[in-house]
Amino acid sequence: MTVVDEVKQRLDIVQIVSEYVKLRKSGRNYKALCPFHSEKDPSFFVFPERQSWHCFGACGTGGDVFSFIMKKEGMDFGEALRHLASKTGVDLTATARGQARGAEKERLFELNEIAAEYYHYLLLKSSEGEIARNYLDQRQLSSQTIKNFQLGYSPAGWETIKQYLKVKGYKETEIIAAGLLVERDDGGSYDRFRNRLMFPIRNVQGRVQGFGARVLDDSSPKYINSPQTLVFDKSSTLYGIDRARTAIRQKDQAIIVEGYLDTLMAHQQGWEHTVASMGTSMTDRQLAIIKGLTKNVILALDADTAGEEAISRSGEMVDRILPVPPTFYGWVKYEDAYNAEVKILLLPQGKDPDDVIRENASKWQELIQSAKPMIDFIFETVTNRIDLTSVREKSAATERLIPLLAGMKDPLRQAHYVERLSRLLNVDQRVLADTLRKCRIAAKKRRPEGQYQVPALPIPSSSPLEHFCLALLLQYPELKAEITGISPEHFEHSENREIFSKWCQSEDITTLKQSLDSALHEYLESLLKQNFLPIVRENETARRDTLNDCIIRLQENRLKHLEAKRQELLALEAETGGIEAQLAKLEEQGIEISKQLKELFIKQSHRRRWLARRDVQ
Ligand code: UTP
Ligand code: MN
Repeated sequence: MTVVDEVKQRLDIVQIVSEYVKLRKSGRNYKALCPFHSEKDPSFFVFPERQSWHCFGACGTGGDVFSFIMKKEGMDFGEALRHLASKTGVDLTATARGQARGAEKERLFELNEIAAEYYHYLLLKSSEGEIARNYLDQRQLSSQTIKNFQLGYSPAGWETIKQYLKVKGYKETEIIAAGLLVERDDGGSYDRFRNRLMFPIRNVQGRVQGFGARVLDDSSPKYINSPQTLVFDKSSTLYGIDRARTAIRQKDQAIIVEGYLDTLMAHQQGWEHTVASMGTSMTDRQLAIIKGLTKNVILALDADTAGEEAISRSGEMVDRILPVPPTFYGWVKYEDAYNAEVKILLLPQGKDPDDVIRENASKWQELIQSAKPMIDFIFETVTNRIDLTSVREKSAATERLIPLLAGMKDPLRQAHYVERLSRLLNVDQRVLADTLRKCRIAAKKRRPEGQYQVPALPIPSSSPLEHFCLALLLQYPELKAEITGISPEHFEHSENREIFSKWCQSEDITTLKQSLDSALHEYLESLLKQNFLPIVRENETARRDTLNDCIIRLQENRLKHLEAKRQELLALEAETGGIEAQLAKLEEQGIEISKQLKELFIKQSHRRRWLARRDVQ
């Protein structure tokens, strides 16, 4: 989170604006006479949900709380930031500390990258690496997979990586901080990873956070991993996510396996939407990574683990406010909260995904297709294990399973499962419905009203599209010539708006940086480091196309937001008997917006057709 986000999160635009103008509630929003031009009827609106404002009158402009203050107080971005930060108690000097930490992290990422490259080199080229090359051969991993995942080999010596990184200019303390060296009691240190197959673990952005390392025989421990460092925490990382991300989006599904080698084999055979939880059950932080990419999750588990989880006494998880995997009960809550679907893929006895895929790839596809919805799996497992002739066991099972349904928001889903359970247990649906009702009442009593709610999504603090577009422009200066049809107004978030408008006036990054308030430097750095797909990096035409798409989408977003706001007002005005003139004005603006949207649509479909033709050729 940038300091700008932090300030925004702590402010309410309604409160700030009402220090300057008299706001009147108008439906979900607020209106006032526009403070920026004189008018008789209010056309200035504040939208609390988006934390934005807009003047539908003569100004025809809007933005967030920063742009309001800048305009009202005649401040530049930095002044407005300081002004608002002082209201929130966000310490801007603390960000300076944050920046130092940022630099430290950056150094660790770089160090890890160099280590990964070196291990990879040793695997491919060194004579000691032969043992690892043979091992990979035997595991049937292709040289393409080895390259894609930059697998490596750490030789048996005690100071291989240490010496190498020292020569590259890293201090021993830094190499220790990265987890590549182990400190001795006497103050010395030695290579943590020796004579092992190396798996660089990358974050979503593709940066090396740490390593997993496997022995090349069957000694133990089989794997060791990097310890927790400033940039690595195993339980909030998914192995392979950098290479799986796009596929997960495209296939709208993520397959979660346990092991490094499972991931490699799955990718090699075409299931690129696979990631590994690295041997532990999924944590909520790992899930958070997936959440933004797809709602469909498949967990590959062996039957024993899955069965145990399904019957385990983790019913208390149902009471937690937040949906918390890794327990199965937590998963069901997660599904419910995010309208997601989690399925269980049961592995054949004694096999892991790597084995299955290697033996028979179509079998793996079958397993994926026949993965069972989590809740069905739990129901079946529990009911299979009880004696259906025993009333006591039946009622115990009901007690265990009903709480799973109690939290469901979707009544259809709930009804479906009541029916299902009724069939599985051979218990009358009405009896179950009654138990369910009691369970809900009891749950309500246990905690105050409202806590069952999924927490509201935080205010959108930044826009990925704005971010992406800016990053592209900044990293490829030649694109500047391509910029037509967008203005700073197209960036709703002030930090992006500020960077865009300063960039338009700057020669290069250095002058841009000089013209920006230092509070934005960290954010600027992150834009400059944004990773792009190889095609964007390598191909100028692709880059231009991508930019053009961004521009069109920015234009579209702006119009759509405008239209949404206008619609809301229109409805409200009609309801409360709005003033004729104002209605007419809104109507007029509507015509203009839909005209522009239509033009945009036509432009877009031309482009699509043109791109399609070009791709065919
Ligand atoms: P597995 O033991 O199933 O290993 O552990 P694997 O990946 O299938 O490897 P092979 O096929 O036996 O060579 C699954 C995952 O659990 C983590 C690793 O991420 C591993 O890939 N693990 C396992 C550890 O971190 N440490 C261990 O000691 C064992
Ligand atoms: Mn395995």
